[in-house]
Amino acid sequence: MMKIGIDKMSFFTPPTYVDMVELAEARGVDPNKYLYGIGQGKMGIAAEAYDIVAMATNAANKILTAEDKEQIDMVIFATESGVDHSKSAGTWVHDLLDIQPYARVVEFKQACYSATAGIQLAMGHLTMHPDSKVLILASDIAKYGVNTGGEPTQGAGAVAMLLSGDPSILAIETNSATYTKDIDDFWRPTYSEFAYVDGKYSNEAYLGTLNSVWDRYKDQFGAQVSDFEAMLFHVPYTKMGRKALLELADEMDETTSERFEKYYDSGIVYNYVVGNIYTGSLYLSLLSFLEQGDEVAAGSRIGLFSYGSGAVGEFFVGEIQAGYKDALLKEDHEKMLENRIKFALEEYERVLSNPVSIDEEGNAALETKHTNAGDFIFAGINEHKRFYKKL
Ligand code: CAA
Repeated sequence: MMKIGIDKMSFFTPPTYVDMVELAEARGVDPNKYLYGIGQGKMGIAAEAYDIVAMATNAANKILTAEDKEQIDMVIFATESGVDHSKSAGTWVHDLLDIQPYARVVEFKQACYSATAGIQLAMGHLTMHPDSKVLILASDIAKYGVNTGGEPTQGAGAVAMLLSGDPSILAIETNSATYTKDIDDFWRPTYSEFAYVDGKYSNEAYLGTLNSVWDRYKDQFGAQVSDFEAMLFHVPYTKMGRKALLELADEMDETTSERFEKYYDSGIVYNYVVGNIYTGSLYLSLLSFLEQGDEVAAGSRIGLFSYGSGAVGEFFVGEIQAGYKDALLKEDHEKMLENRIKFALEEYERVLSNPVSIDEEGNAALETKHTNAGDFIFAGINEHKRFYKKL
């Protein structure tokens, strides 16, 4: 059977961040709580010009060639920070990147889970249309608000993945286990700029869902943890994935446990300094593992746990492809992170608390402060229509 999976992938985070030690001090919290208890060192913050469309466009722009743009016949935009109830954020990306017009573009929503649903749809599509390519974008801004419990687990960024037959990075296996349960652990009503969360309950729901999908996967396909070279998880903050590893610890012998710990550490290098990017968080962890970890043998199987509050979870498996390191953009990503500028806390609070204001005619002029030359940015609103430009 033909292999299908991730042929290219990249990520983008805006050029500004908040330092977690400074944030802790300002909130009267021991910095070690954020650095180790939560497990976050820096937090990516999106100034006005980097909305989900701009971030996704910048991520995808790093990987797409003119040939890819001719072959892509589906663009799936996964987000829980949508900018329009009706229009898919992907339509702007499709235009900004000149993807051929005979493509299908759609937006997916189910909290942090929906990019995984995008992968599953792409798998079916590519089975039927093996010569096409599917672009999956996962782009979000995690906002709980100033002085809230969730504040240290915010973040901003986008992951772009190009799926195809004969992939260069990771083939996705067809067997997976999915679980859905209607709960209110984390949500964002349409009238609210900020997410609501029942923090402790959300942690329990995450771990409960992990158990449900992992048990189901084992029952259906006869698996055990040692079948996998590494296990990667949705990472709302890096301690959460550690809790997930701990949840499976009973089933691990010492060698497996040490191996998983080591790979988990390489899988959170990016998440530690970017924060939660919701739909993209699992894939940012995957990218971190692929780029920052030791090279693993072709054919190694990686277990992936996707979780979206509300709640839907899925356990699925990727198979490492020979030469995958050559298909990655490690240096580009490291440079992007190194070149970021630290936000003063007042500036961060201003950006977080002042959403773009629109005048009576439906116009908004946006500041281009804190932007990088060459980036695609959200440039403003004209008669209620958003527009973008490349700097
Ligand atoms: N030094 C070291 N560690 C310290 C410390 C110190 N001085 N002080 C506290 N800690 C540790 C605590 O012991 C605790 O560790 P454990 O979790 O291992 O017990 C950790 O720091 C956090 O402390 P608290 O439990 O007191 O933290 P909190 O009450 O501030 O809440 C939180 C933490 C629930 C994660 C909160 O930040 C939150 O609500 N975040 C948003 C929700 C979230 O991310 N949920 C994750 C699951 S849902 C999901 O995954 C979907 C999604 O993306 C949102």
